[in-house]
Amino acid sequence: MASVKTVFYCSECGYESPKWLGKCPGCEHWNTFTEEVMKKEAKQNRYSSVVTNSKPKKMSDIEVGKEIRFITGYRELDRVLGNGAVIGSVNLVGGDPGIGKSTLLLQMCLNIQKNFKILYCSAEESVEQIKLRANRLKDGNENIFLSSNTNIDGLIADAQTLKPNVVIVDSIQTVYAEDISSAPGSVSQVRECTLKMTRFAKENNITVFIVGHVTKEGMIAGPKVLEHMVDCVLQFEGERYSNFRIIRAVKNRYGSTDEIGVFEMTDRGLLEVGNPSQVFLEGRPKNVSGTIVICTMEGTRPILAEIQGLTAHSAYAAPRRMTTGLDFNRASMIMAVLEKKAGFNLSSSDIYLNITGGIKVMEPAADLGICLAVASNIKNHPVGDDTVAFGEMGLTGEIRNVSFVEKRVNEAFKLGFKRCIIPYSTNSESLSLEGMEIIRVKNILEAFGAVF
Ligand SMILES: Nc1ncnc2c1ncn2[C@@H]1O[C@H](COP(=O)(O)OP(=O)(O)OP(=O)(O)O)[C@@H](O)[C@H]1O
Ligand SMILES: [Mg+2]
Repeated sequence: MASVKTVFYCSECGYESPKWLGKCPGCEHWNTFTEEVMKKEAKQNRYSSVVTNSKPKKMSDIEVGKEIRFITGYRELDRVLGNGAVIGSVNLVGGDPGIGKSTLLLQMCLNIQKNFKILYCSAEESVEQIKLRANRLKDGNENIFLSSNTNIDGLIADAQTLKPNVVIVDSIQTVYAEDISSAPGSVSQVRECTLKMTRFAKENNITVFIVGHVTKEGMIAGPKVLEHMVDCVLQFEGERYSNFRIIRAVKNRYGSTDEIGVFEMTDRGLLEVGNPSQVFLEGRPKNVSGTIVICTMEGTRPILAEIQGLTAHSAYAAPRRMTTGLDFNRASMIMAVLEKKAGFNLSSSDIYLNITGGIKVMEPAADLGICLAVASNIKNHPVGDDTVAFGEMGLTGEIRNVSFVEKRVNEAFKLGFKRCIIPYSTNSESLSLEGMEIIRVKNILEAFGAVF
C-alpha cells in the first residue's frame, strides 16, 4: 500500500509546508494553511511540465504556423481575448457566484457549435438543467456534448474519444484527480487537474475554458500558480444590483490586458453592449450642478462616464472624504489643490465622489472631471449637459496632456456632446469636428473660467 503523507498548503500561493504555519513565508498572508493528505506517488506528477517531450530544441528548428484564432460570436468577448480565442489555449474564467459564467460559456458554445464540436463538462448542474438553459438562450445544439464526469482522467479519456475542438470545465473546483486523495477544490487537486487539462489541451490543440470560483476578496480560488498555468485569465465582474457585466482580461498570453467587454444580463441570457458610453450615461440628470461627463480609456476603447461630486457641511472635526469608483488618494490630492489654487475652503466639508454605472476609473485623465464636479456643486452652477472634460492635473493646478485625445473627442462627438474641455498642450489640428467646440485649458482656473 502506498504510504500516506500529510502536507499543508497555503491556499493563496500554494506554498507547501510539512507543518501548519500561521503566516505563509511565501506570500505573507495569515491563516491560509490547510491540511491535505497526499499519496507519495502523486508527487512526481506535480512538477511535470505541460508538455511531455521536453528535450531541448533549437529555436530556429521549431516550426510554427501563425497562431490560429476562432471567433466566439461575441465581439465583446473576442476583444478581451485579443481578437478571438487562440486554438489550443487554456482560458480561466473567474467571477462571483451567479454572475453568469456558465451562461456566457454556454452562449459561446451555442454560437460556435456550427463549426466546432464541443464537450461541456459541468459538475455543478445536471445535464438536463444545462439543456433547459440552452433552450432558453438559443436554438440549435447539435454539436454540443454534455458530461457530468468529475474525474479529470475520465474526462480527458472522454475527450480523447470524442475529439472535440473546445472543452468547457465548469468548474475546476468540482473535478478531481484520483491520484490525489484530498477533496476536490483543495489546492493540490485544483493544481493537478489544471495541469492535466493544460497538458491535454497543448498536446491535442484543443481550446479549453475553465470556470474558477472566486474567494471572498474576489480573487480566483486556489493558489496563484493556477493563474500562472493557464494562458488567459478572464474576470467576470458586475454590481450585485445592476444587470451590467464587465469582463476583463487579468492575464493574456495572446493579447492586451487592457480591454474590457460589456454585457447585459437579460432573460435571454447575456446580450452584448456595443455602446457602453450610452449605457453608463443613461438616466443622467439634466441641468443640475455637481455632475460632469468624462471620457476614460479602457484599453484602446474610449468610454464616457459621469462623475458626481457632493460637498456637505461636516459635523465632525475631521471631515469625511468618500470615493466610489475613483482612486481615493488621487481625489484627496485634487481636493488639496482645489483649496490651495482655487481658494475653496473644504476643510469643514464632507466630500463624496461617485462614478455612476458601477465602473472604476483609475486613470489621471479623470482629474479635471473631479475638479469640475466638486466646483460645480460648491458654486451650485451646472457645468452643462453637452460638456465633456478630461485632463490630468498636477500639484500646481496645471492641466496636463493625456493619451488618445482624438479618440476621446470623437467618442464624445458620436454621442452628441457639443463641448470638450481638454489640456492646452494637445495638438488640436486633427480635432476639427463640425459643431464641436474644443476648449483648451492650461490650468484649473482657466477651466473654471470656461464653464462658470
Ligand atoms: N430566467 C432568467 N431570467 C433572467 N435572468 C436569469 C434567468 N435565469 C438565470 N438568470 C441570470 O443568470 C444568472 C446565473 O447565471 P450562471 O448560472 O451562468 O452564473 P454562474 O456565474 O455560472 O454561477 P455559479 O457560480 O453559481 O455557477 C442569475 O444570477 C441571473 O442573473
Ligand atoms: Mg455556473
